Amino acid sequence: MFDASQIRALFPALQQQVNQRKLVYLDNAATTQKPESVIHAMAEYYRYDNANVHRASHALSARATRQFEASREVIQRLVNAKFPQEIIWTQGTTGAINLVANSYGSLLEAGDEVIISAMEHHANIVPWQLLAERSGIKLQIAPINGHGQIDMSAFSALLNENTRLVSVCHVSNALGTLNPIAEIIALSHQAGAKVLIDGAQGIAHCDVDVQQLDCDFYAFSGHKMYGPTGIGVLYGKQALLDAMPPWQGGGEMIKHVSFNGTSFNRLPFKFEAGTPNISAVIGLAQAAEFLQQTRASREHEAQLVAQLLEGLHAMEQVSIIGPTKGQIGSVSFTVTGEHHSDIATLLDEQGIAVRAGHHCAQPLMAQLGLKGTIRASIAAYNNSADIDNFLIALKHTLALLS
Ligand SMILES: Cc1ncc(COP(=O)(O)O)c(C=O)c1O
Repeated sequence: MFDASQIRALFPALQQQVNQRKLVYLDNAATTQKPESVIHAMAEYYRYDNANVHRASHALSARATRQFEASREVIQRLVNAKFPQEIIWTQGTTGAINLVANSYGSLLEAGDEVIISAMEHHANIVPWQLLAERSGIKLQIAPINGHGQIDMSAFSALLNENTRLVSVCHVSNALGTLNPIAEIIALSHQAGAKVLIDGAQGIAHCDVDVQQLDCDFYAFSGHKMYGPTGIGVLYGKQALLDAMPPWQGGGEMIKHVSFNGTSFNRLPFKFEAGTPNISAVIGLAQAAEFLQQTRASREHEAQLVAQLLEGLHAMEQVSIIGPTKGQIGSVSFTVTGEHHSDIATLLDEQGIAVRAGHHCAQPLMAQLGLKGTIRASIAAYNNSADIDNFLIALKHTLALLS
């Protein structure tokens, strides 16, 4: 049985008051809070094991390296990758997508096409625009329908023999839409294209099995799955990663350097130039263990989303933006006649943390004819009292403004 109150007790930041009210944290799509196990593991590393990793010539370095590489295996198990070397540490989802855009992207030529969708985060738009400027590839945008879902027939029509990559989010951070990624991957592969899934929002709420999905790349951030900031993961199929050139040069990623040329290290080190964020890697492994223990929270999270939707639907001034039901993690809405930032500020005064703005999805907002929305996003530690408190505070806010 899943018990949200037991889970909540593991998170020190959730035990505080904000503006003299018990904190209701509903900004989880931006970043989740961290359990004590993550904080402890990172502090322990700095307290006792702090040393640089690899080429260990002393005990501390050996301990740090052991934990660092064991963490890679934890993430391998989390996403069911075939090999640990298919897990590349990056600075986050943004870093992972930029790695693919720069490395795989360097293999593309003018006339090749990359498809993204109209609901993408800027992190899955701008790297492809930069690539288009550099190499003349064509960026195609799969449109969305009136329910905030990818228009699958329009998407299929975009696929052609020039399509080299499809890069779409698993779950939209702005709308909460769950995309049919298995279908997108199968269709893209039939057309001969590789597929990158932006899993920034998917990883904390969905079971991810990269072998079953058969995606070529899957990118995610530690901080949105109860882990630290400054660390993320690019999963890539080994053969594909092997065929890709390094992106950033420096220490760690080399086999041999001379002034006549350099040979590169094997996977995964080829893509990990410089001293990595060791404590964050160790913290991320703890977060992954925590995530696996809370797999039973899926049903609980779906109930919280349903409770949110029911409460919001009952308010006349509120319009839900995106799917009418079945959102994963996030629910976006607007309030007729009110600016999204005013609502968020008034909610904050009542101890409620939500997000307001364009959610780094300006092209999507432009298409929806909006400047922004208010987004309430949940995690495993939220409970139905949080949703009740949020709905009461929102009603109070609307009454105040009327
Ligand atoms: C869908 C999606 N993609 C990419 C990102 C970028 O993640 P990060 O800033 O952790 O690199 C985010 C962050 O909000 C996101 O929600």
